[in-house]
Amino acid sequence: MKQALKPLAGCKDMPNNSSMLVNIYSDGDFILYRNENGDLMLSSSLCPHQNEPLDHGHFQDSQVICRRHHLIFDLKTGECLNACGYSLQTLPVVIRDGVICALYWED
Ligand code: FES
Repeated sequence: MKQALKPLAGCKDMPNNSSMLVNIYSDGDFILYRNENGDLMLSSSLCPHQNEPLDHGHFQDSQVICRRHHLIFDLKTGECLNACGYSLQTLPVVIRDGVICALYWED
């Protein structure tokens, strides 16, 4: 396995307080989120509790709240903040030449 960069979106296409589904390993498997401070976060898109799509969740600061049972996830670490045993996968995000990219592992 080797580390690779995957272009996700142009910086201009991702204003503060926005999110979009992106493809890393399969269709729509991650959410790219930019908070009100401009911080970028990339996490898996399904809630690990019962697979609710988190792009329908409530985003605030660096957290997302699943709309189904209200588990709260820290999008920087993937940690669930109000229940044990659940976490999101997160990936580093870098900007190269005005393009937001995921740093991920490929075969
Ligand atoms: S499905 Fe997300 S909290 Fe239950």
